[in-house]
Amino acid sequence: MTSIGILGSGRVATALATRLATTGHDVMIGTRNAANSSARWTGPAVTFADHAQTARKASILINAMPGDASLEQLSALREELDGKILVDVSNATQRGADGLPAGLLYPGSSLAEHLQQALPGTQVVKTLNTMLFTVMVDPHRLKVSPTAFLSGNDGSAKTAVGELLHDLGWPPVWIEDLGDIFTARGTEALILLVPHIIRSRGFAPFALTVAR
Ligand SMILES: NC(=O)c1ccc[n+]([C@@H]2O[C@H](COP(=O)([O-])OP(=O)(O)OC[C@H]3O[C@@H](n4cnc5c(N)ncnc54)[C@H](OP(=O)(O)O)[C@@H]3O)[C@@H](O)[C@H]2O)c1
Repeated sequence: MTSIGILGSGRVATALATRLATTGHDVMIGTRNAANSSARWTGPAVTFADHAQTARKASILINAMPGDASLEQLSALREELDGKILVDVSNATQRGADGLPAGLLYPGSSLAEHLQQALPGTQVVKTLNTMLFTVMVDPHRLKVSPTAFLSGNDGSAKTAVGELLHDLGWPPVWIEDLGDIFTARGTEALILLVPHIIRSRGFAPFALTVAR
């Protein structure tokens, strides 16, 4: 059992917390309003706290906050996140008039690289940002095998995240370790395809994958 802290309490956080708690992990959700989030919760047993308490308690943190707020929010947790693994599943985009992603917030770089730079004592691993949240916790639901890309500087942190992915239902053969955190700029840029997929196909479950 791993102590996992999920920052944010929206769609991604709820899906990940539900699956990880169901597979036996100790899950804490870090939220700006623990009382409200706890009152709304209908899933398996998890606990709620503020961001700092969650970052202090958990050994693996998952960033499920909006990408445009993540750098500021997580930089403020530098001490609490020291020595921890930070799994970043967020997408940092500029939004178009319809609310869908229209451009990258960090062109020529990536949110994950900025996070790693701001949190030198933390091992940042980027993954799962290239699919709808329902696929993150149920990859077998698609007709074509999806890919979970991994980017991060530390091999043992990526191994630990690979084990979490296994608990989310990902077979090792569907996990693609791209290399260090620099490679996250590739997977973060894939978000630019997503609004076009959603406009043509709606919110049907999908993942961007490597076909061989
Ligand atoms: N939805 C998807 O299918 C999907 C797929 C891939 C990647 N992602 C990425 O995953 C992240 C979460 O997506 P989501 O769909 O779960 O979003 P969401 O439903 O909007 O949830 C985001 C949560 O973050 C917290 N939050 C909102 N604004 C914040 C702020 N300014 N500062 C700090 N916390 C804030 C809120 O929780 P509290 O109010 O409890 O603090 C909110 O519930 C995003 O970066 C998104 O791009 C989403």
